[in-house]
Amino acid sequence: MDTPKAWLFDLDGVIVETADLHFKSWKRLADSLDIPFGEEENQALKGVSRRKSIEEILALDNRTLPEEEIQQLMDKKNGWYQDSIAELTPDDILEGIPEFLEELQQMGVKLGIGSSSKNAQFIMDYLKINDIFEVVIDGTKVEKTKPNPEVFLKGANALGAKPSETLVFEDAASGVEAALAGGMTCVGVGSEEHLGDADLVISTFEGLTPQALLEKLEHKQ
Ligand code: BG6
Ligand code: MG
Repeated sequence: MDTPKAWLFDLDGVIVETADLHFKSWKRLADSLDIPFGEEENQALKGVSRRKSIEEILALDNRTLPEEEIQQLMDKKNGWYQDSIAELTPDDILEGIPEFLEELQQMGVKLGIGSSSKNAQFIMDYLKINDIFEVVIDGTKVEKTKPNPEVFLKGANALGAKPSETLVFEDAASGVEAALAGGMTCVGVGSEEHLGDADLVISTFEGLTPQALLEKLEHKQ
């Protein structure tokens, strides 16, 4: 395929492995509520908003709670989660990502972040990656979170690219759905089992160059 003009990266699970930190905080909350919650249930929470996540957890046990309590639970989980991300450093950036981004910078393409998280800016500060991305669209800037395409449409637009000129990297099924619904090409980062709808699935950025990736995509299309 032609070199995309805009390259949009999801943050959690693509640039840094925060899924486990989210999981630990949700698990602590679910345990405190006596709601059975494990790794498999957690898969469905990847990429979706904090609000949707708590609703999914409560639904596991057919619970309904007053709005005020739901807010308190979300705040509690976010407090634990924020304590855990405060430990992140540039060393936590996933393997192969620094080299991949450096090559993209040399190619002169536009780089952006498209994340559902309202903590994205904190995480980017801890990882010291702010200067790399021209545009950051996160959970504080959208009304509808993934699988709605809003986050990626806003990202592409802010980078001056049409959806057809945009490539998205996503580790969550909800994010792959969002990118495809927005008319973009999507590379899933993870397993075929969870991300089979993506145009291409890679397991890691380690040893991967943008050129090699584009060739792989070419063969798939
Ligand atoms: C996404 C994560 O990036 O952000 C989800 O994959 C998370 O697991 C969502 O629920 C919202 O995050 P936050 O930081 O705003 O609670
Ligand atoms: Mg993600």
